[in-house]
Amino acid sequence: MVARALVSLASFVALSTVVRAQAPAPGDTPLQGPQPVANQQPSDPSYSCPATCVAPACVCASTKIPGGLTADQTPMFVTLTADDAVQPDTWAAFEQVLNSTVNPNGCNLPFTSFTSIAWTDMWLVTQLHSKNHEIAVHTINHPDLALSRPAAREQEIVGSFQVLNNWAGIPKKDLQGFRHPFLSFNKDTFDIVAKAGFKYESSVTLDPILQPYWPHTLDYGFAYYPQPCLNCTSGPSMRYPGLWEIPMYNLITNSTPPALWTSMDPIISPQLNDYDIAMANLKASFDLHYKTKLPFGLYQHLAQLVAWGPDVQVKKIQWLKDFVQWAQTNYKDVWFVTNQQLIKWIQAPVPASKMLEFLPCVGLATDKSNKEVCDGIDNNGDGTVDEGLMENCQITDQYGFMSCFGCPTIIPNITQPVPPFKTAARKLPVDAGCDNGVWDPVGGACVNLVRATVKLPAVGAANGTNGTNPTTGSNGSGSTSNVKNSASAVPANAVGAGAIVALISSLL
Ligand SMILES: *[C@@H]1O[C@H](CO)[C@@H](O)[C@H](O)[C@H]1NC(C)=O
Ligand SMILES: *[C@@H]1O[C@H](CO)[C@@H](O)[C@H](O)[C@H]1NC(C)=O
Ligand SMILES: *[C@@H]1O[C@H](CO)[C@@H](O)[C@H](O)[C@H]1NC(C)=O
Ligand SMILES: *[C@@H]1O[C@H](CO)[C@@H](O)[C@H](O)[C@H]1NC(C)=O
Ligand SMILES: *[C@@H]1O[C@H](CO)[C@@H](O)[C@H](O)[C@H]1NC(C)=O
Ligand SMILES: *[C@@H]1O[C@H](CO)[C@@H](O)[C@H](O)[C@H]1NC(C)=O
Ligand SMILES: [Zn+2]
Repeated sequence: MVARALVSLASFVALSTVVRAQAPAPGDTPLQGPQPVANQQPSDPSYSCPATCVAPACVCASTKIPGGLTADQTPMFVTLTADDAVQPDTWAAFEQVLNSTVNPNGCNLPFTSFTSIAWTDMWLVTQLHSKNHEIAVHTINHPDLALSRPAAREQEIVGSFQVLNNWAGIPKKDLQGFRHPFLSFNKDTFDIVAKAGFKYESSVTLDPILQPYWPHTLDYGFAYYPQPCLNCTSGPSMRYPGLWEIPMYNLITNSTPPALWTSMDPIISPQLNDYDIAMANLKASFDLHYKTKLPFGLYQHLAQLVAWGPDVQVKKIQWLKDFVQWAQTNYKDVWFVTNQQLIKWIQAPVPASKMLEFLPCVGLATDKSNKEVCDGIDNNGDGTVDEGLMENCQITDQYGFMSCFGCPTIIPNITQPVPPFKTAARKLPVDAGCDNGVWDPVGGACVNLVRATVKLPAVGAANGTNGTNPTTGSNGSGSTSNVKNSASAVPANAVGAGAIVALISSLL
């Protein structure tokens, strides 16, 4: 069995020094994290999940479509995930991709941000959450948790949850997911993630040909060796009732027979940065998933979009846009979803023909009649976002962020994720969030604002009844996206002193 050594492409953000966006020089030694253990077998014969395991609380690991649906009835789910610091320049690049088309329900494409705290702009996180993207947890300092001191592990995991809740105002109930930095984990770190109350973990990497398992709960452990765990014991001994695993599926090459290509950042480096090869591989990977409707994932580090210079950035953005366009044009029933939405569907599957009811698009709270609240959205449609309401938290000479939730006296760290306020405290959202309302951190209440009307795309993949759909998404976002009225300009100096993307390193 070929060692599955392709799984760990990761980037991280340096904490101690300010480093401008830059690519590693050729020949740089990549940082070494734990090396993946080769899968001895694609599935673990000792996995056994009883008939008493029933949705929504318990879902066995299975390669079958949930709910007994046929592949033809099943929506093709695509999850876009982005890891690490949330920053204005990387977001501006990625947003071009998300803006380039809409989902069949008329909403802009959602993604899941596994947000590490160092160098993150808290106001931008608030904004992404308000725009219906999912905010998930990815530690404070992005350490290799398997190699971290035991005490630091819990502080990194739980502390980052607290930072996102306190300084970006993400309601606790919406912070459900965790991904391990460098995808480096072991049983101890999994224990902490489970104990901390996360709903799902998403670091385990699977071979989509040999291990086409759908996301599932870990009540009866893993049905396969949880790659790339260092020192995990055999699958079934790691049992976590109610905790979901959303596997990361490796991409494959467009060759006969196919080989594993990579799991993250499909065009990461100049060497691999060949549009045609990368696109052929990506299409082959999507084709494979489409046959069985196994959810497809595209896992990126947004820093990778900008770190290689403007020319490469343009090319990568175009590549991602072209892929999304291709998938929507050539296949029916393609739905871009967050990880939470994917879980929700697996818990109660509906056929593609019912997806519009299952996942209606909620328009953004933008209407001339609205008052402006601090939520990262232009609520009153006057062209300015959160006018006068957010604060510029310049914490040190080198680092600061904008925030709707007050400014901390020091940079949040693992021993003090919630330092004292420097400015007047703002009010945190209620743990359960606001249903359809919007949290107002100044007034300290959920307020009901008028939401924009969402139009369905003119010719709908929305339908689920037809095959190819050449017009959907070609230029739909301007007229139909729910982010229509939200000018989302982020001040260029929101993260101070050029503390932009930091060191990029690839672990191969
Ligand atoms: C993994 O196990 C090996 C062999 O038992 C041991 O040498 C190593 O320190 C362990 N690594 C971790 C990170 O626990
Ligand atoms: C966190 O910040 C506080 C206050 O500056 C400091 O005393 C503490 O050592 C810091 N902790 C770490 C782990 O850096
Ligand atoms: C959906 O499909 C039905 C039946 O094929 C068709 O009449 C209708 O126009 C379609 N709607 C859209 C939005 O494509
Ligand atoms: C599907 O699309 C084709 C080509 O546009 C059209 O001829 C056909 O009538 C459509 N079928 C349905 C069921 O909408
Ligand atoms: C989409 O593009 C087509 C062709 O360029 C154009 O005719 C149409 O008006 C555009 N639609 C929108 C909503 O921009
Ligand atoms: C994406 O669309 C929104 C809403 O129209 C707009 O405010 C934003 O500037 C767009 N972003 C990019 C990068 O084009
Ligand atoms: Zn990361």
